[in-house]
Amino acid sequence: MLSSNKYEEEFPALKRKINGHRLVYLDNAATTLRPKRVMEAVSEYSLNHHANVHRSTHTLASEATQMYESSRQKLADFINAKKEEIIFTKGTTESINLLAYSLAISNMIQPGEEILITTMEHHSNFVPWQQIGKLFNIKIKYFPVKKGIFEPDDYFNYITSKTKVISITGISNVTGQVIPINLIVEKARKIRNNVIIIVDGAQYIPHFSVDVKSLDIDFLAFSGHKMLGPTGIGVLYGKKEYLEQMSPFLFGGEMIDKVSMEDTTFTILPFKFEAGTPNVDGSVGLAKAVELLQQIGMNNINQHDKMLTKYALEKMKNLDFLEIYGPQDEFQSSIVSFNMKGIHPHDVAHLLNDIAGVAIRSGHHCAQPMMNELGVKATCRVSFYVYNQKDDIDILIYGLKKVWEWLK
Ligand SMILES: Cc1ncc(COP(=O)(O)O)c(C=O)c1O
Repeated sequence: MLSSNKYEEEFPALKRKINGHRLVYLDNAATTLRPKRVMEAVSEYSLNHHANVHRSTHTLASEATQMYESSRQKLADFINAKKEEIIFTKGTTESINLLAYSLAISNMIQPGEEILITTMEHHSNFVPWQQIGKLFNIKIKYFPVKKGIFEPDDYFNYITSKTKVISITGISNVTGQVIPINLIVEKARKIRNNVIIIVDGAQYIPHFSVDVKSLDIDFLAFSGHKMLGPTGIGVLYGKKEYLEQMSPFLFGGEMIDKVSMEDTTFTILPFKFEAGTPNVDGSVGLAKAVELLQQIGMNNINQHDKMLTKYALEKMKNLDFLEIYGPQDEFQSSIVSFNMKGIHPHDVAHLLNDIAGVAIRSGHHCAQPMMNELGVKATCRVSFYVYNQKDDIDILIYGLKKVWEWLK
């Protein structure tokens, strides 16, 4: 890994002081800090090359189009997809909404078939399916993630010959549990070969190297801002054969082939799903973020996550005033949820910020069904990334002890 000083140069926010303390940023599952090089790439594009893409023939327009399309290629290479299988969206939420509507309006789910989701999903992989189910009279099955721990063996009992779509997160954004996607793909396809498998990769992609072809998933959604990229840009990957069958969900400029008073035909992939002027700035920033992740190395990121999480769990388990959720075994990723006995998570988060400069998340984490499974209204959540170090965890532990002394 790069030294901590090198990270400070790349991520200027690490030099921030919060109430006189060095910032300890442990809210990476919500969004990651911005690297200088990403913002410089966005700025260089915006100031010197910006024009609308795929339209005009002048030099700036050609440069902008070339930069947008080479960003798409970078993202395709990152997950081993074809370029036309990468659709730029605003983020995971838009990717899953696009998918849910498009599958429904394309009649790719027949009457009597079911969609399977779980109670651990982020609302953006829960509400779109629930609402599509109501609008199109499709049955949604909810696999209960009892006590917040996903049990694959129980899950497979919910996959039947009626299951047409499975949508599941790669990592729980609440407990940090890593879900064995390869096992799910293998078993699900044995039960129903043509089941459509969708992975919410919002938390997974920033931490693991993914090859969509060898994993054999059909769709993957992720967000730039959780992987060192800008906000407002994300990806929907889809297998070409499915994307070709699917009707577009947004209609307008740039996604058409021919328009007349009678009807409209649509253009080729991926543009058929990208109506209107896209977020070119965001795509350039995201491609730069991917370059940085590749330079650091996804395996190194993964090892670093493991080292920090092990260290944090060892220390946190010694604090008897904490209740820690999640697997706490080899399936634990670098997200850890906990509560301080009898104290509201918002109070813990506020005080950690004020007395130690530690930024954590508190709340329901956009996963209310998962809160019900855990039997709580909210939790505190810490989440680590490449620039975090062991001493960040030492400061967290110091802060937690102080908060407990004050509020117990
Ligand atoms: C697992 C998971 N899915 C989806 C999302 C939604 O991502 P976005 O808000 O970038 O669309 C999040 C965000 O926290 C998440 O953690």
